Amino acid sequence: MSEVSNETRFLHAIEMGLGAWQWGDRVVWGYGQTHTDKEIRESFDISLSLGVRFVDTAEIYGSGYSERLLGQFLKDMDQPVLVATKFFPWPWRLTKASIPRALKESLERLGLDSVDLYQIHWPSPLMSPEKMMEGMVECVKRGWTRTVGVSNFGEKHMLRAYTTLGRHGIPLASNQVHYSLLNREVEKNGTLARCKELGIRLIAYSPLEMGLLTGKYTLENPPPGTRGMQYGELIRKLPPVIKLLQEIGLNHGDKTVSQVALNWLICKDTLPIPGAKNVRQAELNAGGAGWRLTDEEVARLDEATDNIREYKKRV
Ligand SMILES: NC(=O)c1ccc[n+]([C@@H]2O[C@H](COP(=O)([O-])OP(=O)(O)OC[C@H]3O[C@@H](n4cnc5c(N)ncnc54)[C@H](OP(=O)(O)O)[C@@H]3O)[C@@H](O)[C@H]2O)c1
Repeated sequence: MSEVSNETRFLHAIEMGLGAWQWGDRVVWGYGQTHTDKEIRESFDISLSLGVRFVDTAEIYGSGYSERLLGQFLKDMDQPVLVATKFFPWPWRLTKASIPRALKESLERLGLDSVDLYQIHWPSPLMSPEKMMEGMVECVKRGWTRTVGVSNFGEKHMLRAYTTLGRHGIPLASNQVHYSLLNREVEKNGTLARCKELGIRLIAYSPLEMGLLTGKYTLENPPPGTRGMQYGELIRKLPPVIKLLQEIGLNHGDKTVSQVALNWLICKDTLPIPGAKNVRQAELNAGGAGWRLTDEEVARLDEATDNIREYKKRV
């Protein structure tokens, strides 16, 4: 592994984060029906009390409501919380100036002068990685973000972002990508290896595969809404994986399926950011950190999920 830069070292010290997509999102997550602001606040508080200090939000989550809620929570915090948010490359945002402009609006919703990590949410055919990074450089110069990250960038786009920032003496802090036992694309396409080589923190989103890696969803009891359609095929292959996760959990003082699945990501040197809808889920997820699977257990989980889906190449 390469030297991690001083500016981004803090990200490598974090084992677990908290995802905030659920905060205000009705379409995928059923905000208002399955969870309300009260449950969100409780899950935030318990996460902090259990040592989870890194929250990942985005300007598009709940159309800004996720950032607003986090801003409210931060007002009465007496302990530091690390905040990451994201720029969404809407098709009408064509200039690099749109990036600091969007960050300013995020900062207003969050009630902060700066964030710890500002990420490009997705690459775009309408704005090159070079142009995006020039916009990010401006955000750093203005003191509005401590570090710069990307999200959903394949290896080639990530390298272009890394090189552009490097010309300004700014490290690429992170690449936030889909990574779980049920989606190992970043291992297969070289992104994870490249991140390690360059000291870029890989942040693993949907680390519980949107609830599948908790053991509560089955063919007879599929996840509700869009998730049910999305995971129709994968859910058939799930039972042996859940059984193995249960078996391994027993070796570690009765860890749950979800805790073992999260710990596998920590063992892969990545930072999982599970979402939670209530205090129980947040409490369980925090318990995915602070211990380690054995190398043999990681290898067994690797083997059990190696061919669970096919992967397409992404740039
Ligand atoms: N950059 C990107 O493009 C991108 C994309 C996706 C996500 N993200 C980020 O990654 C975060 C996490 O990913 P995600 O929210 O997609 O999926 P996830 O963390 O894999 O799954 C979260 C969902 O699983 C269920 N769950 C969580 N913990 C549980 C537990 N201990 N026991 C039982 N059920 C539990 C809950 O839903 P139910 O109770 O309804 O099952 C929860 O909403 C997001 O919040 C967001 O910050 C980023």
